[in-house]
Amino acid sequence: MSERKKITLTTLGKMKQAGEKIAVLTAYDSTFTVVEEMAGVDAIIVGDSLGMVIQGKESTVPVSLSDMIYHTANVARVRQHAFIVADMPFMSYASSAEALGNAARLMQEGGAHMVKIEGGSFRLEVVCEMVGNGIPVCAHLGLTPQSVHTLGGYRVQGRDEVSAHTILDDAEALQDAGAGMLVLECVPSVLGSEISHALKIPVIGIGAGPDCDGQVLVLHDMLGITPGKRPVFSCDFMQGQDSIQGAIEAYVRDVKSGAYPAPEHCYN
Ligand code: KIV
Repeated sequence: MSERKKITLTTLGKMKQAGEKIAVLTAYDSTFTVVEEMAGVDAIIVGDSLGMVIQGKESTVPVSLSDMIYHTANVARVRQHAFIVADMPFMSYASSAEALGNAARLMQEGGAHMVKIEGGSFRLEVVCEMVGNGIPVCAHLGLTPQSVHTLGGYRVQGRDEVSAHTILDDAEALQDAGAGMLVLECVPSVLGSEISHALKIPVIGIGAGPDCDGQVLVLHDMLGITPGKRPVFSCDFMQGQDSIQGAIEAYVRDVKSGAYPAPEHCYN
């Protein structure tokens, strides 16, 4: 049983202000939720990465709303203190009406505290409507995996000046529309740093450099059990550990101290 106070979006905002790094991991079930909380994880993202690491699919695109509700509920059922963010699946937030109805299900049936959606300025109206209706929204910029077929693969984003500016402008516009947190994936460290300093809301990086307000990894990547090639930004925290609990504790420690991500986990 965790003794920690329940973590809210306000707590995460205060951690950013205080310069305390936020340790985030994905989880999809109750057992790992308990282990992650005992290891000191601040927030859990029930990512649609579950399509790949749980369901064996090629991308996140086929993941359904009922999949996301099922896994979010498994996490929420045992959660003691961690803040829970659930991914809205591909095409479940294309219009404000769909976004409101589907986000409500993730919160009411799944128990999510916040929902995450991918995309930039074209999402502003949806974000505004959701936040106006009491739905906390986490934006996701940079590499947005639901757009893998548009992007032509899983590539680093924001490497040239124009696209870097677009990502920064989008981040500021999403914050102004009411987004309460940002996940920033696969961008050069210098851009991760600029965006984290420019925004008031917490910026959680995944392959976005050491200056983000927090870090997130896909659980299976950081345990070194993802089949195939591991992303550059990931790190096998099982190395040197004899238990999963120990590996997750090492991850939390390294995020908090700034030891992770190291230069070899970053993009220039
Ligand atoms: O689906 C996922 O796991 C994500 C990560 C960036 C947390 O979106």
